Amino acid sequence: MKDNDNATPLKSYLYDSQIEDTIPYYSYFHTETINLIKSLFDEPKTWLDTGCGTGSLVKRALDVFLNTKFLLLDPSKGMLKQAKEKLSGVSEDRLTILKPSATQEFTQKLEDKIDVITAIQCHHYLSPKDRVKATEVCYNLLKDDGIYITFENIKPFTNKGIEIGKRYWRNFQLSRGKDSEEVENHIARFDVEYFPITVENHLSLLRESGFDTVELFWYSYLQAGFYCIK
Ligand SMILES: C[S@@+](CC[C@H](N)C(=O)[O-])C[C@H]1O[C@@H](n2cnc3c(N)ncnc32)[C@H](O)[C@@H]1O
Repeated sequence: MKDNDNATPLKSYLYDSQIEDTIPYYSYFHTETINLIKSLFDEPKTWLDTGCGTGSLVKRALDVFLNTKFLLLDPSKGMLKQAKEKLSGVSEDRLTILKPSATQEFTQKLEDKIDVITAIQCHHYLSPKDRVKATEVCYNLLKDDGIYITFENIKPFTNKGIEIGKRYWRNFQLSRGKDSEEVENHIARFDVEYFPITVENHLSLLRESGFDTVELFWYSYLQAGFYCIK
């Protein structure tokens, strides 16, 4: 992404104030991720949030899972700086901010295998090859029975569906008061700055990566959420 400190169109220090007007139901992605984890675990021991951005998901999850240890990963130093500030009061035994890395390039050895890995709106920037690699990295870091949750921008099945999806998303952003030129630039990023794949392709990729259970659990506008159990 040109002229920016991360892969999104938003500067990291403006991300939190603008994301709700950009992605419909954005905060629900976090709410429902937490609700899903609550339905599966009393308390996960370890949770890695890759593509953590400004740390908003972990900030909320810390208050729900009081004994879980969180690890945060992101390739953007700008985003990690925001996350560090947001989570500055949290003790070291509950939180580790890992060195900047993209998921697909992550090679650091962790002490334990992980119970939960979340990747919210962060892998749609990848080429097909790197997307496979990122999914493999997550799979390998997980314990058996561990859960991987990912949300991404999605490609509808048909050209007509893509056009309708773009119009639908464009209208959402305009209804939130965003400037029309900014919205056009944002919509023009589809298949140019991020590379969405269909729900069917996601399900195939996740199954081929070795996950036993692969489910779609969220779909709104041009975003979908999946969970997978190793
Ligand atoms: C739209 S933001 C989402 C941030 C956060 N997950 C959230 O829910 O608010 C996308 C994030 O993905 C990160 N990112 C971009 N490419 C990535 C990759 N290959 N692996 C992991 N994170 C990536 C960006 O730096 C950015 O912080």
